Amino acid sequence: MGAGRWGVPRSQRRVKVEAAAATAAAVSSDPWTEKSENWSPLTSLHPTNKNPATMAELQEVHITEEKPLLPGQTPEAAKEAELAARILLDQGQTHSVETPYGSVTFTVYGTPKPKRPAIFTYHDVGLNYKTCFKPLFDFGDMQEIIKNFVRVHVEAPGMEEGAPVFPLGYQYPSLDQLADMIPAILQYLNFSTIIGVGVGAGAYILSRFALLNPDVVEGLVLINIDCNAKGWMDWAAHKLTGLTSSISEMILEHLFSQDELSGDSELVQRYRDIIMHAPNLENIELFWNSYNNRRDLHFERRGDATLKCPVMLVVGDQAPYEDAVVECNSKLDPTKTSFLKMADSGGQPQLTQPGKLTEAFKYFVQGMGYMASSCMTRLSRSRTASLTSRASIDNGRPRAASQSSEPGIVPSGSPGHTMEVSS
Ligand code: BEZ
Repeated sequence: MGAGRWGVPRSQRRVKVEAAAATAAAVSSDPWTEKSENWSPLTSLHPTNKNPATMAELQEVHITEEKPLLPGQTPEAAKEAELAARILLDQGQTHSVETPYGSVTFTVYGTPKPKRPAIFTYHDVGLNYKTCFKPLFDFGDMQEIIKNFVRVHVEAPGMEEGAPVFPLGYQYPSLDQLADMIPAILQYLNFSTIIGVGVGAGAYILSRFALLNPDVVEGLVLINIDCNAKGWMDWAAHKLTGLTSSISEMILEHLFSQDELSGDSELVQRYRDIIMHAPNLENIELFWNSYNNRRDLHFERRGDATLKCPVMLVVGDQAPYEDAVVECNSKLDPTKTSFLKMADSGGQPQLTQPGKLTEAFKYFVQGMGYMASSCMTRLSRSRTASLTSRASIDNGRPRAASQSSEPGIVPSGSPGHTMEVSS
C-alpha cells in the first residue's frame, strides 16, 4: 500500500470487472442491443450494450482501485462517492459476482440517486434481461421515470448472451437459491434497497427474496407470478405435454396464450425464433426445470408469510397465468396490493403494452413517494393529483397510494386496488 494522491494512505483492492475485448467494439446489428438515449462519451470507452460482448469475448481485467480519503470526508460520504463514480462508468456494463451457488451476471444502467432504491429486474424462463425488459425500459414515457433510478438487470445463470452451455450433470440452482444469490449483487453495488420488477420465474424469485429480506424490498411489480408449487395434476399435465412437445414449445406456451401462438403475430414469430434457435437452450431447460420444481411461497393474507411492501400484480386477461395471479392477489395483503389485469396484452404485457404498464408503474412509484407530480406529463399530472394526495409516509418509508380503476384495465374485483391507466 503506497501514499495516495492526497498524501494519505490509499487502500488498494482488486475489483473484478468484465471488460469487452477489443473485438467487441464492432457495432452490433442485434436489434436488442441499441439504446441510443444512454449513449455518452463514457460509453465509448467502456463496454456497453451498444457494443455488446458475448461471454466468450468478455475478459477479466483487474483494476487497482485507488481510494484516497479526502481530509474531513466521512467514510459514508466516501462510500457514496465511490459508488457514484463506479456507476457513472456503468451505462449498460455487465458484471458478474461469485455466490455460493455459482456466478451471477447483471447489467447496470443509470446513475445512482442518493437514498433511492435501485430498480432491480428479473426476467422469465426463455428470456434474458433484454428480450424481457428492453421494450418496456426503452418506451418513451418510461424515460422520465427511470432517469430517477439506477437499474440493475440480473440474469439467471446461463441466460446471458453468449453464455456457454453448462456441462452435463451441472446442478442448476433452485429458484430459492437464485433468490439467495441476490444479496451478493446488492453488496457488490452497495445498494441497500430495491424496487423489484419480475416476470414469471423472475417474479417468483423476487418474491422469495422479499419474504426473506423485507427491509430491502421497497416495492414489487410482479408480472405473471405463480406463487404455488405445481400440484400433482399440473405435474401429470406437464409430463404428458413433455411427451409430445419440445422444450421450446413448452416455454412458448408458458410465455404466450394459445390465441397469440396461433395468431402468430410478428412478436410471437420473433420470440419463437429467439427461443427455438437459442444457443443456450440446454441452459434454458435447466432454468425451466427449476421453475417447475418451485416450492409454494405460502403467502398468507394475514401473518408473517406475506409481502410487506407495496405490490403491483400484473397479468393479461386470458393470459396463461391469469388464474395464478388472481389467486396470488387473494393471498396478499389488500392494503398493500394493487392488481392490474390488462386487456389486449396477451401473455407478456411488458412487451405488448409498454405504454399502459409504464403509466401504471409511474403511479406505483409515485405512490411510493419517489416521483413528484412535477416530473409528470401534463396529462398524467392532472390524472394523478388525487393519487398523490393519498400517498402517505410511514416510518420514513413511503407507502403505496390507493388507486381506482378506469377503462383500459379490467377491474380485478378483488378487495385490493386496481390501477388506473389510459387505454
Ligand atoms: C435500461 O435502461 O434500464 C435498459 C436498457 C436496455 C435493456 C433493458 C433495460
